[in-house]
Amino acid sequence: MMNKKMKKALNNQLNAELYSSYLYLSMCAWFEAKSLTGFANWMRVQVQEELFHAMKFFNYIHDRKGEVVLDALAKPESSWDSPLAVIESAIKHEQKVSAMINGLVSCAIEEHDHAANQFLQWFVGEQVEEEANFGAVYDRLKLVGGDSAGLFAIDLEMAKRVYVPPAP
Ligand code: FEO
Repeated sequence: MMNKKMKKALNNQLNAELYSSYLYLSMCAWFEAKSLTGFANWMRVQVQEELFHAMKFFNYIHDRKGEVVLDALAKPESSWDSPLAVIESAIKHEQKVSAMINGLVSCAIEEHDHAANQFLQWFVGEQVEEEANFGAVYDRLKLVGGDSAGLFAIDLEMAKRVYVPPAP
């Protein structure tokens, strides 16, 4: 059983993960419209990652006999000045998510909810990976600057990303 505060906080994170998938779908659409299909593919995979995160919260709340309460999703941003601006905005978003996960861990500790704390540790590690993945794309884009050949070379790399569901 979870207390009210923990239930509310986990439902809030479920919404945040669904919003992440929505935001990355919006970024995917932006890349598709620019014919940067490799970047679009990369974001499409990221959408699946976020849906997996959301479902992890969904399943955990049920396992702990809590109620899942779905909330409205905010309208995601849809316009950026450049591929670099898209990735920069994604990094800022991931940093925000990492802070939210840290907040949830603190909440679990304060509420002496050891099960929730253990569950959330997976996300602590996952956020390190998420920030590193986006950071690597950002660094490569910075390296090529405004060079189109460099951008297309990165696009070809981004096309190779395949969604592999993490072990449950
Ligand atoms: Fe679910 Fe990208 O954090």
